[in-house]
Amino acid sequence: MKKQVLFVCLGNICRSPAAEGVFLHLLEQSQACDRFVVDSAGTGGWHVGKAADARMRAAASRRGIQLPSRARQLERADLNRFDHILTMDASNLLQVQALAGKAGGSSLARIEPLLRYCSRFDVSEVPDPYYGGAEGFEHVLDLLEDACSGLLQALDD
Ligand code: 4NP
Repeated sequence: MKKQVLFVCLGNICRSPAAEGVFLHLLEQSQACDRFVVDSAGTGGWHVGKAADARMRAAASRRGIQLPSRARQLERADLNRFDHILTMDASNLLQVQALAGKAGGSSLARIEPLLRYCSRFDVSEVPDPYYGGAEGFEHVLDLLEDACSGLLQALDD
């Protein structure tokens, strides 16, 4: 059975598509693509259908990472479709947990903050880079590369 992993942020145009791309890149490097299904979604629906933010795509591309996703909004069915849901910040975590609560607490997915899997950084949230400068996007990628590497080690046993 493939492991199903969903990354969640607010808009699904910056942090979670970047996490998806970083994780896919690591899977390719370790020839583990066939063992995982990877996706991302946003708790908000403003950007549905859009490609990832151009600044995020450019920063990722400089590291050899492509971001293929199109924004979509998280839906209740995701809570049972995925084994693992990784959130970017405390607000996303609360939103996903609230959706799970509405579903009668029956969700199958394990819901947790992605940065729990960091080993080089001691921070709990991926800051939203949307309204900031270029360095914010680099910092997001630094955090995601660290956390996604830890996540892959934890899941690919
Ligand atoms: P993301 O960033 O949650 O990392 O995709 C955001 C992008 C856009 C908005 C919020 C967050 N927005 O409100 O438009």
